[in-house]
Amino acid sequence: MIKFTIITLFQEALEPYLKTSMMWKAVDKGLAEFEFVNLREFGLGPHRSVDDTPYGGGDGMLLRCEPVFAAIESVKAKDPSAKVILPTPAGEIWNQDMARALALHPGSRPSGPSPRADGANSRAAALRNPPDCKASAHYIILCPHYEGYDERILSLVDYKISLGKYVLTGGELPALIIIDSVVRLIPGVLGGETSAEIESFSDGDNIEYPQYTKPYDFRGMKVPDVLLSGNHGEIAKWREEHSGKA
Ligand code: ADE
Repeated sequence: MIKFTIITLFQEALEPYLKTSMMWKAVDKGLAEFEFVNLREFGLGPHRSVDDTPYGGGDGMLLRCEPVFAAIESVKAKDPSAKVILPTPAGEIWNQDMARALALHPGSRPSGPSPRADGANSRAAALRNPPDCKASAHYIILCPHYEGYDERILSLVDYKISLGKYVLTGGELPALIIIDSVVRLIPGVLGGETSAEIESFSDGDNIEYPQYTKPYDFRGMKVPDVLLSGNHGEIAKWREEHSGKA
């Protein structure tokens, strides 16, 4: 079971996605739990303000320390083991190895190289030592908004994660991407027991081979004949040859 507590000003932007399809099935199966904390409730003054102008001048508003510390402390008061994730363009670039580390070894640090060359070995090891599905973990994702956050907030953060070298308006989309990519890898969430393991990116940077379903001929575009041959050796060879690299 992996629990995500999302600290946000925009719960309504996140909730529909987490109540849909695989994310909701994971909750239904007791494999994931999502909780929201409204940062506004920890805001200051009559307007429950959570932001202010930067010292030294400059455009925009920054998240203040007080509401963020109070919100995180309220979650940690109930579960001191919860780890804090901050989506930020200044973080470590998120990848499949990090998602897998969180899903299969909850509580582990979502970093550290898992080079492609090690992929086969680590998969073999995982098969010998199936992940402990009873392990549990609790991640708090803090979704900043506005132009940024007071640097002192970082003293509470365990993992800074970037979704790429571009800037979004807030942490909500990164939070959804982090959650989706982790939850679908929790053993038992996807239907086929190995589909998450064999598909794209499952060994780091190896892209899955092209796939086809019916009809055989769609507007003149035909399925490669080898896939209809029934020759499993040839099919495996074709798939290997057509697997790309990220
Ligand atoms: N917040 C704003 N931009 C971001 C990015 N690229 N990755 C993670 N968090 C962000």
